[in-house]
Amino acid sequence: MANILCIGAGFVGGPTMAVIAKHCPEHRIVAVDINAAKIAAWQSDHLPIYEPGLKEIVLAVRGKNLFFSTEIERHVAEADIIFVSVNTPTKTFGQGAGKAADLQYWEKTARQIVESSSSSKIVVEKSTLPVRTAEAMERILNSNEKGLFFDVVSNPEFLAEGTAVEDMQNPNRVLVGGQQTPSGQRAVQAIVDIYAHWVPRERIITTNLWSSELSKLAANAFLAQRVSSINAIANLCEKTGADVTEVAHAIGTDSRIGARFLQASVGFGGSCFKKDILNLVYLCEFYGLDEVAAYWEQVVRMNAYQQASFVSKMVAAMFNTVAGKRIALFGAAFKAHTSDTRESPALAVCRELLEEHAHVVITDPYALESARADLHDVAGRVTFEPDPYAAARDAHAIAIATEWPQFAKLDYAAIYETMVHPAFIFDGRNILDHNKLFEIGYNVYAVGKPPLTHFENSNPVL
Ligand code: NAD
Ligand code: UGA
Repeated sequence: MANILCIGAGFVGGPTMAVIAKHCPEHRIVAVDINAAKIAAWQSDHLPIYEPGLKEIVLAVRGKNLFFSTEIERHVAEADIIFVSVNTPTKTFGQGAGKAADLQYWEKTARQIVESSSSSKIVVEKSTLPVRTAEAMERILNSNEKGLFFDVVSNPEFLAEGTAVEDMQNPNRVLVGGQQTPSGQRAVQAIVDIYAHWVPRERIITTNLWSSELSKLAANAFLAQRVSSINAIANLCEKTGADVTEVAHAIGTDSRIGARFLQASVGFGGSCFKKDILNLVYLCEFYGLDEVAAYWEQVVRMNAYQQASFVSKMVAAMFNTVAGKRIALFGAAFKAHTSDTRESPALAVCRELLEEHAHVVITDPYALESARADLHDVAGRVTFEPDPYAAARDAHAIAIATEWPQFAKLDYAAIYETMVHPAFIFDGRNILDHNKLFEIGYNVYAVGKPPLTHFENSNPVL
């Protein structure tokens, strides 16, 4: 039996500990957080995050071998293995501002571990961190005067929101990096043993510390790069009459390219892609690799362009003005099946539309609460409406910003009757049946496809 602690009970800490608790009944797992409201929510029936399948697991193990607490010091003292899953946002001040990772929460956690410990422990980097962070952590942890020794292991998390539970239960791989010393290798084995409860051994990859830390940044950079690449092609499709769905299918059937992550969109969002690429860019610049830094930075630039140009296209299509027009924004979450709105393209689109003096009505099945908090500075100018039919009533346009399957199943013929005409739909996720919408009467603009409009000479290709 081991006492496992997770510091940081957020989107990663909560689900990962729940899944570990489910598969390792002999271990006692505690997740702690400085945010008392979040811990109270984890202890309640209204969990602080929405993830399909999460509630069932939490309810099955909570109070048995999974506990949530704010008593950080006590649980640090008791722990054998400490996962650290605190946030590592982009630095907003000083050197590296806007790019480098802000490691203040992480360093505070390391110091707290030293202060509260009276036995040696394994400390696991679960947060995404710049390469060689473990070196700094080892120095802080092992410069204690209590004679304690801490092994630092890197175990980055690859789960995606919306599929967190499935990704944890059935991962493509688990990565564990450690020092190439006997003690470091024992620590790696201890973490491998946890996952081996449910993950086939061949899917548990062990590497040195730096490879593990860098692999996490590289994986996110590659994934985000695919989205920016298909979005770049989508822009060319719009100019040439090619259809990005057809192009994505045609290239994705090449097994060397692969079909996944080729969905053209209003841009990628989420708390990590942008932050992690900028972190990678900063590291490259730090090591004097300016061309390499510029290569990766372009992925983020392309994404910003994609979000901004979505709104430009809306304004252009709607006779060059949206001022005073009601626009129904379908989606607030950065992707479907999550309540998370961090870096959501939907909110970026909302803000751009507000700049154009549009009246924005946002609807989302799970993320309205979070959107309201994020948009508090413009609260008076946005309406939050849980019912998409009510959101679209009297609107000049609907803009699809999140790929919730619910949005594809709405009665668009009925919605059309309640809208101002000519009515527009801008499908930023390409989830709707565009021909059918066109037949109903809408003017339809999708990403990377020729527009379907009832106006003459509006197709830029013709
Ligand atoms: P989050 O903001 O949801 O959770 C982090 C939690 O840490 C917060 O609840 C915060 O209150 C808590 N915290 C901060 N400092 C603390 C301290 N000193 N003591 C105790 N608690 C503290 O963030 P997240 O999305 O869970 O991400 C955590 C890390 O995991 C980040 O490095 C992120 O890059 C990485 N990651 C995130 C995802 C994801 O899908 N969200 C996936 C893989 C990796
Ligand atoms: C991503 C990675 O997929 C995870 O492996 C990683 O652990 C995580 O980041 C992290 O480090 O935080 P996540 O951001 O939760 O996961 O969600 P994704 O499914 O990767 O989607 C990211 C964004 O890209 C979303 O806005 C999504 O809508 C968009 N996207 C994705 C597209 O626009 N097109 C696609 O083809 C795929």
